[in-house]
Amino acid sequence: MKSKELRQKFLKFFEDRGHRIIPSASLVPSESVDLAGTQRVLFTTAGMHPLVPYLLGQPHPLGKRLVNVQKCLRTDDIDQVGDSVHNTFFEMLGNWSLGDPASPDLPRGEAGGIGQGGYGKVEAISWSYDFLINHLKLDAKRIYVSVFAGDDDAPFDQESFDIWLKLGMPESHIFKYGKKDNWWGPVGPTGPCGPDTEMFFDINPSSGPVDPSQDPNRFVEIWNDVFMEYDRKIKNQKAKSKNLTEITSSGYEYVPLKQKNVDTGMGLERMLAVVNQAPSIYETDVFLPLLKQIEELSAAFNVKSSRIVADHIRSSIFLIADGVTPSNVERGYILRRLIRRSIRHTSLLGINKDFLSDLVKIVVKTYGDFYPNLVEFQNSIIDVLQKEESKFKKALANGIKQFEKIKGDITSRDAFNLYQNFGFPIELTVELAGENNKKVDMVSFEKELKAHQDLSRQASQKTKGGLAVQSDKAAKLHTATHLLHQALRDVLGHHVHQTGSHITDERLRFDFSHHSKMTDEQLKKTEDIVNQKIQANLKVHKKVVPKAAADEMGAIGLFDEKYGDLVKVYYIGENDKIESAYSKEFCGGPHAQSTGTLGHFKIIKEESLGANVRRIYATIR
Ligand code: ALA
Repeated sequence: MKSKELRQKFLKFFEDRGHRIIPSASLVPSESVDLAGTQRVLFTTAGMHPLVPYLLGQPHPLGKRLVNVQKCLRTDDIDQVGDSVHNTFFEMLGNWSLGDPASPDLPRGEAGGIGQGGYGKVEAISWSYDFLINHLKLDAKRIYVSVFAGDDDAPFDQESFDIWLKLGMPESHIFKYGKKDNWWGPVGPTGPCGPDTEMFFDINPSSGPVDPSQDPNRFVEIWNDVFMEYDRKIKNQKAKSKNLTEITSSGYEYVPLKQKNVDTGMGLERMLAVVNQAPSIYETDVFLPLLKQIEELSAAFNVKSSRIVADHIRSSIFLIADGVTPSNVERGYILRRLIRRSIRHTSLLGINKDFLSDLVKIVVKTYGDFYPNLVEFQNSIIDVLQKEESKFKKALANGIKQFEKIKGDITSRDAFNLYQNFGFPIELTVELAGENNKKVDMVSFEKELKAHQDLSRQASQKTKGGLAVQSDKAAKLHTATHLLHQALRDVLGHHVHQTGSHITDERLRFDFSHHSKMTDEQLKKTEDIVNQKIQANLKVHKKVVPKAAADEMGAIGLFDEKYGDLVKVYYIGENDKIESAYSKEFCGGPHAQSTGTLGHFKIIKEESLGANVRRIYATIR
């Protein structure tokens, strides 16, 4: 079975059962989702992620039954990419019921009814099983499941256990696990979560113990039905003011949600491998053409490097299409690491020709039907990748020479030098060290990096704001930039986020993620909002707070204090209350004291700056 057929089968199955198909959201989560309680998460990591506000109770415009295929990116296991199961970008097939489980239009205990209301465990589990054995034709005897065993926060999931038995699952195939294995979410530290029932396929019946939690080589998790019925919250106000990362698990509480949801997720690549009895996700149609091309180009082929290149390039292409550009902060830094790591592995494979445009074309051909923005931005994706490649190649040649000069193990100073002066992401140094039987002093490296970042925080905050020239006029333009950023979000939507900014004494320049040319009307509306805020003579305030608290207040913008706890937030509003401020941004300043002094704001030009990134020039007079 090909990926296209699996996507279609899944969508149709749930459409036939009253679900509405929703499009895949961007890999860059929208701010409204962060605000709804998941905290700032760099990428969309699950199908439920863009649905957080609806899981928490906001009505969804398409009703209570939804289904989709969601682009996701998880980078926690980046080091394991190259084996047979790990990858970074993946697609998740998912179906949802948003509350109202005792749906009157679907008889309880009977799957297959058509309705518009929500549904509960009976329908979710029965449909999952029906799809697996009757539509994907998996051998029922090789399916195993698990249910939540119960703990202090939530009871044993007897209902799911009984449903599985009733569906004919032998008791010996039903396992009970605790929170570690049978509880899903939240995406960040807080938000919707709940017990789940997981389905596994026995890919290797003759080996290993019969326990899905013990043997990942024998049992592949194929589907997860989560009963999202709890909201994980910080326990009390006192804990809230602390840095979130310091709060231990006991600092949280599980508050029952007023709406009982179903959230399911099936990894497309994994399911393809299982259905086709392929030895790994890399032997499926989403990877094979890419790997074949890599092999053809290679002078010194090896499986692991070819998988790393295929996986990382695929992720990079999807990220760039969603407006991410390589940089040294946040998403841009992850993208840079993915690109640079794949380029390094192309040199290990002995690929000397231009390969990027070939690989982009293959990915676009594989996915273009389903993700048309890849087709639309194909040329600019190639452009971004090639620019990053040439930057890195220069650094790489010099860095490797430098690396070879190091005698013995890699001290933190060596690693830091490679990072700072040769653009080596730390995992590149670690990888090179591994190949040469050297150790890297990671603990001191992290310390050194933190010390460096603390020292440069002040300076970096200034340049980050784009202040090439420090003057009154520049400070005013800087304040206007914040108003513009928020106004663009008001007019175009919350997917707008800053990707760059530069200010001179004459004008401001602002780069942001957005997919299409702005219309004259949108430009006018944006200008009008900024001018209204100028006329309202709002005050500009500054607050230094823990980063987690700033996130919670909904501050936006670029920041790079990855290791520092305190960040500066500039906010613009009618009074000194940050909660009600119009604009809140991470920023180093300086700014005007109030907006009334800015003058008239005018947009001079709006243009494209590659895939999903736009640029605005504006002045104040
Ligand atoms: N949100 C659940 C998962 O990602 C379905 O596994």
